[in-house]
Formats: sequence, structure tokens, C-alpha cells
Amino acid sequence: MNSTVLKSDITVGEKVLSCAQDKHLMDSLSSRSGVAPKGCHNGGCGVCKIEVLSGEYESMVMSRKHISQEEEDKGIVLACRIFPRSDMEIKFIAKPKKITYTIGD
Ligand code: FES
Repeated sequence: MNSTVLKSDITVGEKVLSCAQDKHLMDSLSSRSGVAPKGCHNGGCGVCKIEVLSGEYESMVMSRKHISQEEEDKGIVLACRIFPRSDMEIKFIAKPKKITYTIGD
């Protein structure tokens, strides 16, 4: 039997990427260089926070540490917690973490 994986076109800035609907969005986007930040892929780090500008998706439980219910209601979600169900346009909005290095004593 020949099974066909449904795909959606995901627009991220200037790039349009064909992504499988049976993988969460972060898995699909991180396989293409320069599109998504490196992250945990399981809802723990928050670097994949995105705003969905258009399109349909199915979501799993969001970490309330990173996404409030109010944000989720507005389409602000974690890319590793959603599956595309149509063509979508998204924007990464997570702020990079500040890292402080101390050199010497
Ligand atoms: S990649 Fe870490 S929360 Fe999505």
C-alpha cells in the first residue's frame, strides 16, 4: 500500500517550506538550515515561540511557562507543539536568552 504524507507550505519571512502534516512544525523547520533556532523540540525551552499570522493547525498541550492561555488564544504558540493543517504563515518571536560570561577572577 502506498501512503501519502499530507504537506503544507509554511511561509517564514522570505522562505516558503513544504512541511509534513504528521511532524510538529519545529521538526520540519529545523531540518532546513537558517530557518529555526536550535531548541529542545519538546516544549521545554521556549525558543520556538511563534506567532501564526495565517493558517490552520492542531496543537498539543502548551507549556504555560512559555505560552499563556491568552497568547495561545491569539495564535502565539510553540512550533514544537503544533502540526500544520493548511498552508501557514508564521513568525518566530522568541527573544534570545541573554548569556553573561565572566572571564578571569
Ligand atoms: S524547541 Fe524548545 S520549546 Fe519548542
